Amino acid sequence: MSTLFDPLKVGELELDNRIVMAPMTRSRADDRGVQPPFVAEYYRQRSSAGLIITEATNVSPLAKGYVRTPGIYTPEQLEGWRPVAEAVHARGGKVFMQLFHTGRIALPDFLPEGAQPVAPSAVRAKGQNYTDGGMKEFVTPREITVEEIRQTVRDFADAAANAVEAGFDGVELHAASGYLVQQFLTTNANLRADEYGGSVENRARFLFEVLDAMVEAVGAGRVGVKFSPRMPFNDIEERDADELYTYILRRLSGRGLAYVHVGDFTGEGWHELLRPVYDGVYFAGAGLTKESGEELLAKGLADAVVYGTKFISNPDLPKRFKLGAPLNDPDQTTFYTPGERGYTDYPALSQAA
Ligand SMILES: Cc1cc2nc3c(=O)[nH]c(=O)nc-3n(C[C@H](O)[C@H](O)[C@H](O)COP(=O)(O)O)c2cc1C
Repeated sequence: MSTLFDPLKVGELELDNRIVMAPMTRSRADDRGVQPPFVAEYYRQRSSAGLIITEATNVSPLAKGYVRTPGIYTPEQLEGWRPVAEAVHARGGKVFMQLFHTGRIALPDFLPEGAQPVAPSAVRAKGQNYTDGGMKEFVTPREITVEEIRQTVRDFADAAANAVEAGFDGVELHAASGYLVQQFLTTNANLRADEYGGSVENRARFLFEVLDAMVEAVGAGRVGVKFSPRMPFNDIEERDADELYTYILRRLSGRGLAYVHVGDFTGEGWHELLRPVYDGVYFAGAGLTKESGEELLAKGLADAVVYGTKFISNPDLPKRFKLGAPLNDPDQTTFYTPGERGYTDYPALSQAA
């Protein structure tokens, strides 16, 4: 039976504890997708996590769906990330970079001049996306061609190589939250009649091609992947999610990936279903408290537990859990605003005292 404070082997790394910081978009980068220096301070403050997973990072110009999100496809972006990895490592922490492509969730506002978002099929997501000028309706995407799929797979592999070159311990593929990879997985965003649509195997093809390419680029022990089964965010409908994710986790077994990360956002018992069919390191997240995290570990339903919002407002979350100390509340109004306010200014325990 493991606890929050037991070490854990992930790939070649030894994590100090089993408390993982969730990937969280904070929209502090500049218009070129370059992280400013204070981003290193934000992650440095949180380096007592067993593992930090960074905010979702764009793998190409067409991937960008949110204001001020960072990229990892230009030399300037790579150099902007380097101090982040250095700062976390200087404190003995470990850090993976999350990689994504937003597909149909991208708004033309964020894409190169004149570009239309791409997606498995030309199906507009119902709903709206955040911009500094308020919420905006999603647009109808263009169906991605097979040649563009191949290029996108290469973009993920190049991004993974760049992240490791920038000093990161590994990369996490964002296959959750209704972005491009999950758009391929679902029946309501993917209407394709070719080898990328239809059966579970076909819908999962893009996921496995991307993962294989990332593994080839940086090694299996440096690659993790995040899923959010049946989470409806960004207009996802997964009618056959049980079959789909069971198939995926079975097929991921035996590959020696760093970890699989599952957010149970629907409370349907995804960890009970999926933990037993995967043979590697399993991270569980979404809506956890200290107690519910401990329970998942105690029951063998997770090897590590992932906290999001609590890490935004508590840079020293592991210490607070250990001492049973009170937690700071997060301020939602500064989740995505530029600058350091609501970002690097949450007090650690000694400062609070
Ligand atoms: C401000 C904010 C930004 C987020 N951005 C991302 C992201 O970039 N990638 C991702 O996989 N999940 C993202 N999430 C979801 C979190 O990773 C996590 O799954 C979610 O917050 C649930 O965990 P929690 O209840 O501990 O916060 C974000 C959540 C928040 C609050």
